[in-house]
Amino acid sequence: MKDINVMVIGAGLYVCGKGTEGFGTILPAIYEWKRQTKNKGEVHCVSTSFASAKELLKKSENLSIKTGVNFDISAYPETDIKDNLHYRKLLERINKPSCAIIAVPDHLHYEVAKDCLDAGLHVLLVKPLTPTYEEGRKLVDLSDKYGLYGAVEFHKRWDRSNLILRDKIQSGELGKLLNCWIEYSQRKSIPTKFFKDWSEKTSILQYLGVHYIDIIRYATGAMPKRVMAIGQKSELVKHNINTFDAIQCLIEWEMTDGSKFTETIITSWVDPDSSSAVSDQKIKFVGTNGRYEADQKERGIRLNIDQQGVQHINPDFCMPYGTENGSIKWQGYGIDSIVTFLDDVRDIENSLKSLNDLQNERPSFKESLISTMVVEAAHRSLENDSQWELIEELI
Ligand SMILES: NC(=O)c1ccc[n+]([C@@H]2O[C@H](COP(=O)([O-])OP(=O)(O)OC[C@H]3O[C@@H](n4cnc5c(N)ncnc54)[C@H](O)[C@@H]3O)[C@@H](O)[C@H]2O)c1
Repeated sequence: MKDINVMVIGAGLYVCGKGTEGFGTILPAIYEWKRQTKNKGEVHCVSTSFASAKELLKKSENLSIKTGVNFDISAYPETDIKDNLHYRKLLERINKPSCAIIAVPDHLHYEVAKDCLDAGLHVLLVKPLTPTYEEGRKLVDLSDKYGLYGAVEFHKRWDRSNLILRDKIQSGELGKLLNCWIEYSQRKSIPTKFFKDWSEKTSILQYLGVHYIDIIRYATGAMPKRVMAIGQKSELVKHNINTFDAIQCLIEWEMTDGSKFTETIITSWVDPDSSSAVSDQKIKFVGTNGRYEADQKERGIRLNIDQQGVQHINPDFCMPYGTENGSIKWQGYGIDSIVTFLDDVRDIENSLKSLNDLQNERPSFKESLISTMVVEAAHRSLENDSQWELIEELI
């Protein structure tokens, strides 16, 4: 097996838990992948400032101690500069990486992914693919043109809870699909503190709700036909952040047999910071033969510790678990999604998998364009007095 070099662009909350006691998801996943595969390739992480590069290296040192996994990792910029385009210099400087994992704010996804594809790298982009259909389409076309693999890190496709839903739909046990309802919210500190610099440039539907647009596509294989959305601005505007506190979005989907069902997504990011989990998420799906209901916040574990209050722990997303030899192992669907991408790239580079194999099995760029279309249509609806927007008019 050829070793592969990996480039990570971004060094924020999702990459390494910047500004928190935690380690994020992408860096722990790379540690687990190294443990599993013994791949000796290089890992290069680039952000926009010396301070965040240093913080990433500190987290990495700590992860090496905790996991017992060691490998060479470099972080950039290496000198005290601030450079938003530093990743471009790296693309020219370092040994050509096989792939890039991109975790920068939503509005930069297109530009950074395009540069990586132009440089010949397979790409894993955190969700959403892009905010608009036009940008997403261009990324699909570029990856086709260069024969590169492009995927979006829609980790909920690896959540066993969603796999049960998919199986019950695919087997026909739920019957004809009628409607589904999703409630998904996060704490106020996400837009006002962690994503303060860019929360105004996205929406809660694009940043968070998009997960459950992709999951419904994945579980049903349906295509969105029309979309409407309504939203409220009361709280975040008080913090000088001009974005919706909450959005309610209705999507009409069509199955391959022509039958239709609706999805309602109620999403917000002004939950109290005292709430018992960062994310509150619930889903119900109603069919003619039955219903599926999951509380994906309350997964059965409630922890209550002095000064910390009650916490609902998600044991399935991205959790460190102790092992018999005393080291820590990270497990969960967040880890699985990134490990799968790295395995896929290694297999492509070793001619064990083809791009065609991955187009439908994975959240490829082409698959992810569907959720981007819904987000763009919902944004248009919000601008147009909540009128229905037809998906075919976007294309
Ligand atoms: N936090 C999560 O749980 C989570 C989960 C899944 C996906 N995401 C997505 O990941 C992306 C980033 O989220 P985050 O939570 O890490 O945000 P963040 O604000 O904590 O970090 C963003 C990072 O991007 C860097 N950055 C900005 N412009 C850059 C550029 N031009 N080149 C290189 N780096 C640049 C910033 O320096 C920062 O390190 C967003 O698209 C978000 O939707 C976040």
